[in-house]
This record gives sequence, structure tokens and C-alpha cells, in this order.
Amino acid sequence: HGLGRAVTRRWAKGGDPQARLIADPDVRADPFPIYDEIREQGPLVPTRIGYVTASHAVASAVLRSDDFRTTSVSTSVLPPLQWIERRTRTGALHPLEPPSLLSVEPPTHTRYRTLVSSVFTARAVAAMRVDVQAVADRLLDEIVAAGHDAPVDIVTRYCARLPVAVIGDILGVAEADRDRVLRFGEHAAPSLDFALPYRQFRTVERGLVGFDRWLGDHLAALRRNPGQDLMSELIRAQVDGEHLADDELRATAGLVLVAGFETTVNLLGSGVRLLLDHPDQLAILRDEPEHWTTAVDEVLRLESPVQLTARIANTDVELGGRTVARDGFVSVLLAGANRDPGVFADPNRFDVRRPNANRHLAFSGGRHFCLGAALARLEGEVGLRTLFERLPGLVAAGAGTRRSTRVLRGWASLPVRTGTTA
Ligand code: HEM
Repeated sequence: HGLGRAVTRRWAKGGDPQARLIADPDVRADPFPIYDEIREQGPLVPTRIGYVTASHAVASAVLRSDDFRTTSVSTSVLPPLQWIERRTRTGALHPLEPPSLLSVEPPTHTRYRTLVSSVFTARAVAAMRVDVQAVADRLLDEIVAAGHDAPVDIVTRYCARLPVAVIGDILGVAEADRDRVLRFGEHAAPSLDFALPYRQFRTVERGLVGFDRWLGDHLAALRRNPGQDLMSELIRAQVDGEHLADDELRATAGLVLVAGFETTVNLLGSGVRLLLDHPDQLAILRDEPEHWTTAVDEVLRLESPVQLTARIANTDVELGGRTVARDGFVSVLLAGANRDPGVFADPNRFDVRRPNANRHLAFSGGRHFCLGAALARLEGEVGLRTLFERLPGLVAAGAGTRRSTRVLRGWASLPVRTGTTA
């Protein structure tokens, strides 16, 4: 029982900034000073478990290089993660395990990605604007219809529901199943983190196994009775005359579903919070709504919903004045790169008109660049804009609580008053 905590405590000692980032619970609320500290130590900083970077140039180079591959739970060099892995032999799919898109490389990666990419191109996504708008309006109608001025948790009522409704429509998930799917995602999310407290362990396992079973049943139902949704398409799909094997299908559909709502909720929640905290910036958007697209990128830059990722070297690589040995581990602090003062002037400032806000790495880069980036940006823009335009009297009604996860950064709850008395 105490093993996880003992490992964690041992790691947090000794001042290694990477270890503090992983293991120090106090750092979770505000990891940014540690990102700065790491960046100030150099573009690529050696730690006890490999290298870490918070430099925009080095992070971009690693993500775009063919000399690196993505990591997975079982190839992780992080002892706590290996420890977790040994205890989750449930057979359930994990988003960081093959055959998930996130953890495979070409030619397998190309094969899976080709199957799903056409649904998420900028053009295909632009056509979804009316649907996203309809979802946002329906959710806000429900909140306004409740119509008194008691505090409402905007995260559970809106920020979480909008993305799951949108991706649920794309994937053919019935409305009745969506709250369950959200709960699985919430339970399983800490499995992306490096140091998982033991007491969360069973919850995570329940989330992963529950989601996997639900997905298996859902796919079986679609096989009997296919629709026009992406999951049904995948069932029908053939690439080079080859059907996806059952586990490939489950992994691909499962990742698209989970990635489709577990991250966007954080973009929306952080966006609400930043705009409530910066009325001057909100006023700019009210007067000049053409800045909404930049505002969404600025939220992604400043509060990156996926704070970090990692890569493993395929060969010895010269980088940032160092040599990463073959099979060496590099932790890529996307959120640290996004506050690199060499790229973003006055990087901690929230500026909805920042000219280069979209140079952020919140969607990663290279071949694993977020498949859903265009959709996420659309949901961010329509979701936030509709909220603030329809509820001009929206105000915070309390401090809110952060999500306890480290890789995923966002809000678990944000109480607001809508300012309506309908
Ligand atoms: C990959 C972030 C929304 C689907 C990624 C990666 C990041 C990311 C950082 C790459 C990780 C790495 O390189 O190791 C985000 C953020 C989102 C978001 C911040 C919202 C604000 C979405 C949505 C979808 C989606 C809405 C739904 C289609 C995926 C998929 C991958 C991915 C399938 C794997 C791509 C590959 O490995 O080729 N996302 N994502 N994401 N994302 Fe997103």
C-alpha cells in the first residue's frame, strides 16, 4: 500500500526539478515556475530519468524528428509507471498502449491515421459548426431554463457535456450512454500521470475496464446494426484490402472518443476561468469578436490541457548541445515550451490578441499532431463565445476546484452565477 507513496516521496526529494514535477503534490496547482526553472537550466536538461525540455525550439525539434518514437506505459523508463503497469494486467486497452494511434509509428501509424483523418480535416470540421452551435445552444437553454440565480457548476453542466455530445454524435454514441462514458473517462484520466497514488488505483482500473467493456458492447451493437457514424465506418473500412483487427478497431475508436472529450473540457474550463479573471480581455472580445480564434489559441498556450508528452530516441541524437543516447527518454513539457520567452513576449500574460498565439505546441507536433485540433478549436470558439454572448452577466461564484491530474490540466468544477432570472 505504502509503496507508491514511498516511491513518490523518494522521488520528490533531492531538488531534481523533473522529480518534483512528477511527485510533489504542491506543484500541481502551479507547475509553471518549475517549467521556467528547467528552461533556465538549458534547452535539454539531464535528470535521473532521462532528459527534460521546456524550450520551444528543442520541444518542436523532438516532436518533429524521425529519430524519436512515442513512449508507452510498458516502454516507460519511469519506475512508478512500471510499477503501475505490473498491477494493471486487466487486458483493458490503454490510450498509451499499442495498438493505440498514440503509441505506434509508421507504417502501422500511417495505416490507422489514414482511416480516421478524413473525418477531422479542416474542411470536414468547418461543416460541423452548425452542429456544435446547436449543442452549445441546447446546453445553455437547459441552464437558463433552470432560471434562478443559484450557483451552477459550469464544468459539469457545460464544459464537459459539449465535447462529449459532439464526439458522441460523430462516433454514434447514444445520448443515454454519454454520462457513463464521461465517468469512465474521469476515472481513467489519472492513468496518464506518472505518479499515481495507490488509493486512486482501483478507480483508474475500474474506469479503464468499464470503458473497454462498454466499447466492446457498443461496437458489437453497431456491427449488427451499423449507422452513418465514424465507428460504423471503421467497421466497414478496409485499407489496402485489409480490415482492422478487433483490438485495432477498439483502440482507434476508443482513443478518438476519449481524446475527443477528456482534453476539450479543459480548454473550455480554463477559457471560462481566464476570461472571468480578465474582464479587460473579455471586453476586447465583446467589441471585436474577430479575435475569438486567437483567444482560443491563447488559452491553449497559457493553460495547455495536455501539459506534457514524452519521446524515446531511436538512435544516438545530438540535440540542444547534448547527446541523447539510443533508447534515452525525453520528457517534452508542451506547457513549458508554450511559455518560452524566446518565442512568446511576456509569456505569462493572457493576451487574446497575441499575434503568434497559434505557435503553441498544445496539440504537439510532427506525425502525432493532434488529429482533433481543428475540431477542438471549433468547440473552443463556439463553446466560449456562445457562453459569454448568451450570458453577459456571467460571474464566478467561488474558487472552483482543479482536476487532480498532472498531465491533463483543467478544472473539475467552476461555480458561476449566470446572471439570468428567467
Ligand atoms: C493527439 C492534445 C482534442 C484526437 C494529441 C496530442 C496532443 C493532443 C498533445 C499528441 C500527444 C503526443 O504527441 O504525444 C489535444 C488537446 C485537445 C485535443 C489539447 C483539446 C483542447 C482532441 C479531439 C480529438 C483528438 C477533439 C478528437 C478527434 C486525438 C488523437 C490523437 C491526438 C486521435 C492521436 C494522434 C496520433 O497519434 O497520430 N492531442 N487534443 N484530440 N488527439 Fe488530441
